Parts: sequence; C-alpha cells; structure tokens
Amino acid sequence: MVKKGIILSGGMGTRMSPLTKAVNKQLLPIYDKPLIYYPLSILMLAKIRDILIIVNKGQLDQYQKLIPNGKDLGINIQFKEQSKPKGLPDAFILGEKFINKSNVAMILGDNFFYGQNLSKLLIKCSKIKTGAKIILHSVQNPELFGVAKINSKTKKILKIIEKPKKFISNNAITGLYFFDNNVIKYAKKLKPSKRGELEIIDLLNQYKKTNKLYSESIGRGGAWLDTGSISDYYKTSAFVQAVENRQGLKIACLEEISLLNGWIGKKEILNKISFYGNCEYSDYLKKLLKK
Ligand code: DAU
Repeated sequence: MVKKGIILSGGMGTRMSPLTKAVNKQLLPIYDKPLIYYPLSILMLAKIRDILIIVNKGQLDQYQKLIPNGKDLGINIQFKEQSKPKGLPDAFILGEKFINKSNVAMILGDNFFYGQNLSKLLIKCSKIKTGAKIILHSVQNPELFGVAKINSKTKKILKIIEKPKKFISNNAITGLYFFDNNVIKYAKKLKPSKRGELEIIDLLNQYKKTNKLYSESIGRGGAWLDTGSISDYYKTSAFVQAVENRQGLKIACLEEISLLNGWIGKKEILNKISFYGNCEYSDYLKKLLKK
C-alpha cells in the first residue's frame, strides 16, 4: 500500500494575479473551503496519513495557520519550502527524506476530483507495488495538459506528451500520480527542459521505457475540473456549490473523512468547531456529531 503522499502546492499563480499577489493560489476558496482541502481530501480518501505539503518559500506561515500539523485530523502533515518552481519532479528531490524507502503518491495542489467510485479507484491505485500509475480523464481541450495515447484493446500506454500541439488523444493525464520508490532516483537523473523546468512527462517516460507505466481512467461518472484560471475557479466553485446544496453533503470536508476513516472522534471535531468559529462549515461539523 502507498502510505505516503505529497501535495505540490507552490507555484506563483501568475495567471490569477492580483488574487495571488498576497495569498498562495491553493489557499484561495473553491466555494466554501480553501482549494488545498480538495487534494488533501483525495490523499485521505486513499487512506494516506503521512503527508508532505510543498509550498513556496515565504508562504509557510499562511499554510500553517490553516493546517498546523494534521494532528487534529488524525494524520501527520509536514511542510517543505520550494525556493522557486523548478518543475513537478522537484517534489521527489525535495521530498527524498520524507519518502525514504516507501512508495509515494503525488497530487498537484490545484487539482479537483469528484465522483462515484472515486474512493475505490484511489484504494486500487494505492496498492501499486512497482512502477508508476497515472490517472486519465477525457477532456475537450487536451492541448492544455499532459496527454496519453492508449491502445483501446490492450490499454497499453503508447505515447505520452506534455501539452501536445498536434492532437494525439483526449486522455488528459491528471495531476495525481502513484510511484514506486525509484521515483527519487529517476527524478534526480532529469535535466531541465527548454522552459527551464524538470518535466513530469520525462519522469513518467523513464517508467514507460521499462514497461512499468500503468494507467487508470476516471469514467464519465467522475469529474476532474480545472482551477488554472480565474474563470475555472468560479466554474469549479459553482460545481461544488450545486452538488453540496443539492445533497446537503460537503465535498472534501476533511474532518468528516477522518471521522469516517476512524482516525478522529468527537473530541477532535469539537476542537475543530472552536478553531473554525461560528460559520457554516462548523454548523456542518455539528451536524456530523449528531449522526
Ligand atoms: O493538472 C494536470 C496537469 O498538471 C498535467 O496534465 C500536466 O501534465 C502537468 O505538467 C501539469 O501541468 P500544469 O501546466 O497545470 O502545471 P503547473 O505548472 O500549472 O503546476 C501545477 C501545480 O503544481 C500548481 O498548483 C503549482 C504547482 N507547482 C508547479 C511547479 C512547476 C509547484 O508547486 N512547484 C513547481 O515547481
């Protein structure tokens, strides 16, 4: 089982300036909670309790005000600063000590997932012993993402390309990855690309070379939404608002996930209610206590 996870939550968020001038992008709201809650909830649904959050240099205190160390959620959260955005594989170089000898999952801090059977899929992915697994989702605009071409019969990954100029497939590679421990070694071997960053596609290609790159797909019943631009932010917020208001259930309520996982109890929920104060999120937590 993959028991460790990294959230890569730095980046300058320049496309969203001036919103991101003083606050990191992943701390901005998606409807009723900060964006970082959503990727964190995904790792928790995969039953991962040991988590490293990589943040921009100088922004650590912003995060720690919100999520000090995870104890109140029954998990262990550590932080590491990234001096500047050097590319996604930098996470495994910065996280070497944290990962140690384990396998590891990584989720990008700006990725939003939702859907039926998602928890099942996450548990399945976290069972990976060797190799790497990527999660695919069909999109209309593949040129904006890493993309995988798959043999429809054998499901073998034929090709992966970052932001392809020419169409190869609609299968976007989402920002959630599961790796064996070789990821540290492979990340260290990478050289920066023309744009000066270590590229996740180059890292994945090292697994592909040895036939150890696998994929899973989020089907039509699932959603993987963008938070790349200001308008994406509002669309994703509207999605969360619509689902939550219809169901009366929250997406990515961290305390609820911990409670259901049996990692915390009533006492911790009460502490969190006093931490959040008088707000709608606390009202939801109070309702959980009555269930
Ligand atoms: O969202 C999925 C896509 O994410 C994949 O399909 C692409 O293959 C992958 O390269 C990545 O593309 P983006 O263009 O969205 O990556 P971006 O540079 O915007 O970074 C994604 C997140 O990671 C964002 O929240 C900022 C954070 N980040 C990024 C870099 C490069 C860091 O914290 N540090 C970094 O060095």
